[in-house]
Amino acid sequence: MMNCLQSWPEPVVRVQSLAASGIRAIPERYIKPPSHRPLTKIDFSPPQEANIPVIDFQNVFSDDQRLRDEALRNIHSACHEWGFFQVVNHGVSHELMKRTSEVWREFFKLPIEVKQEYANTPATYEGYGSRLGVEKGAILDWSDYFFLNYMPASLRNPNNWPATPASCRELVAEYGHEVCKLGGKLMKAFSINLGLEEDHLLKSFGGEENVGACLRANYYPKCPQPDLTLGLSPHSDPGGLTILLPDENVAGLQVCRKGSWITVKPVPNAFIINIGDQIQVLSNAIYQSVEHRVIVNSNKDRVSLALFYNPKSDLLIEPTKQLVSDERPALYPPMTYNEYRLYVRTKGPCGKTQVESLKSPRPCSEC
Ligand code: OGA
Ligand code: NI
Repeated sequence: MMNCLQSWPEPVVRVQSLAASGIRAIPERYIKPPSHRPLTKIDFSPPQEANIPVIDFQNVFSDDQRLRDEALRNIHSACHEWGFFQVVNHGVSHELMKRTSEVWREFFKLPIEVKQEYANTPATYEGYGSRLGVEKGAILDWSDYFFLNYMPASLRNPNNWPATPASCRELVAEYGHEVCKLGGKLMKAFSINLGLEEDHLLKSFGGEENVGACLRANYYPKCPQPDLTLGLSPHSDPGGLTILLPDENVAGLQVCRKGSWITVKPVPNAFIINIGDQIQVLSNAIYQSVEHRVIVNSNKDRVSLALFYNPKSDLLIEPTKQLVSDERPALYPPMTYNEYRLYVRTKGPCGKTQVESLKSPRPCSEC
């Protein structure tokens, strides 16, 4: 891997310590240019739909064909029209979701010295981190995180996961298992909806045992000047699909929709699903990843768990042959996910510039 990815270009500052220090003004490094700040009016279009679609997943594999077709149709329009939806009746235990979210909240409450033992580097990103991207002098986001590899099993090393709280490793293992199962079901539904064999997308990702799955627990501390910064800058997720467990008590995620930012209102016990760049490539842009970002606030911190469901990192990902025709030529060149994610790991969150640049030199930044 490239040399420049072995260490951070500047001393790492934990956003949580900044927040706890009682400062009234945030350091300049976190201040976004005016056009990127949360309250900036983007255009004058009328107010958008109130929320992303909510999908009931329970009938997706029902024996009743009518119910199944209807559920699949709803998923297809959510993928096609939005690239983002919430899913309920998804089969993952609500109790497990609550406990896992709680255990990460507890982890982030631990003294900095304890978390510091897990400090990460950009070589693997695994561990406790406070920035994405290694560009010196970059403007940073108002968040800390813990990143870990769950799949493939050969990359899973629970010794790198938090030893405290005591139940953390066990919960992460169980959560990873359940949420990856949901990922597999979503891949099936997407494949059917694209008119492909139901195992097509999963096979393109290398099969159940070989897919990549990583968990990022995001921690967004309270911020004394939330109007000047972002918890996470606009980006599309570079991988396959993302299964996000948001903080039920605090909104923060915003999705770019027709030039406006829509704040997602989390439905109790739901996951938020979004299409990543690799599914955009495989579907030859029938499904597209969507820019999103996170805003912070001055009175509540926020925890979210993002499970990224990705292709095996050394497989070539390219538009599916059945979705390529003379009328709709392949929009993207083949590339491995390893090569693809170097970009975001170097530059940090950067809208949809990467996937768009493969297709044309003009970056798309609707929002
Ligand atoms: C991410 C992400 C949203 C959130 O981790 O890629 O978009 O609500 N997170 O934390
Ligand atoms: Ni994201």
